[in-house]
Amino acid sequence: MQKIPLSKCFVNAEVEEAALRALRSGQYILGKECQALEAELAAHTGTKHCVLGTSWTMIVYMMHLAQGIKAGDEIIVPSHTAFPTMEPLIHCGAIPVFADIDDTFCMDVELLESLITPRTVGIIPVHLYGHAANLGRVFEIAAKHKLWVLEDCAQSHGGFYDGKRLGSMGMAGAYSFFPSKNFTVLGDGGCICTNDGELAEKLRMLRNHGRKDKYLHEFTGWNVRFNEIQGAIGRVMLKHLDGFNDNRRAIAAHYNKRLAGIVTTPPERPWAKHVYHMYVIRAQRRDELQKHLKELGIETGIHYPVPNHQQPAITNHFKKVTLPKTEEVVKDILSLPVHGEMAISAADAVCDAIIGFYKK
Ligand SMILES: Cc1ncc(COP(=O)(O)O)c(C=O)c1O
Repeated sequence: MQKIPLSKCFVNAEVEEAALRALRSGQYILGKECQALEAELAAHTGTKHCVLGTSWTMIVYMMHLAQGIKAGDEIIVPSHTAFPTMEPLIHCGAIPVFADIDDTFCMDVELLESLITPRTVGIIPVHLYGHAANLGRVFEIAAKHKLWVLEDCAQSHGGFYDGKRLGSMGMAGAYSFFPSKNFTVLGDGGCICTNDGELAEKLRMLRNHGRKDKYLHEFTGWNVRFNEIQGAIGRVMLKHLDGFNDNRRAIAAHYNKRLAGIVTTPPERPWAKHVYHMYVIRAQRRDELQKHLKELGIETGIHYPVPNHQQPAITNHFKKVTLPKTEEVVKDILSLPVHGEMAISAADAVCDAIIGFYKK
């Protein structure tokens, strides 16, 4: 029985050659490969600037520092996201204000205004699983209340809102390159894409010990620098991103067709072009189904079983809140296998197994 993984990294001869090219170049940190990857990522996203860093978490932390976020500032975030979405702001002393979600699993924008107080400074919509949050409404509300918007694009590389690339519309878009992501460098990494030249410049300095040039330090910074081997690998990966996203969409369309009426399949709003970082169903007897699939060699995941507003790291420090929709979905969501190279025959095997389970 062939195992079907939840996700899979792409490695071919071109990727290996790119890594070797960087290895042999004699330059390993923030060199030509990194500069080229920054330019190529900015062009792909449709922004003027891209700044690479060691992870989404660290480059966003740099960004919050550059923005001057301070203790007591309130920032609206969904609870239903990866925990790191709110880590950088908490390190700045700010307060995460949790928004509930709608059936797309993204922030319910109709609830947004009720969460705004005089201390609110920004909103972080997360394009969860690869589906765009309702940015039109987010920007309307942000403009009305003079708030910044940071798009969390960690799971949505190459996705669209209303024909525009995710990560190109707010103050900035932040990406993660962790190996399971739609775009990876086969290791940790991340970047900020932005049209704000001043912000990009400050980030470049902060990630490199506050340097303006080699021996001139304008700020006390950090080491959040990117490396050439991963830069070179990323340049190959970027060439495949749109094609792999098309394949993810084909797999999702197949799942949608075969699983309709058996489980709740994920919606796609007319203004979104979903890139299915995760294909997430809502399933009755979820835990039993997951066990059944595991027995058949099919790997699945739960993203995420414990909502962030209920994590000890949050409840020990912040006001307790109730988010009915978030608390409901965590009980029955299940992420099915999907990746850029997955074959329709593998999706069929997953569907057969799910259909078989509910027939029993
Ligand atoms: C939605 C979301 N935001 C932020 C992150 C953090 O990314 P990184 O691991 O690169 O710091 C992740 C990664 O898991 C994520 O999925």
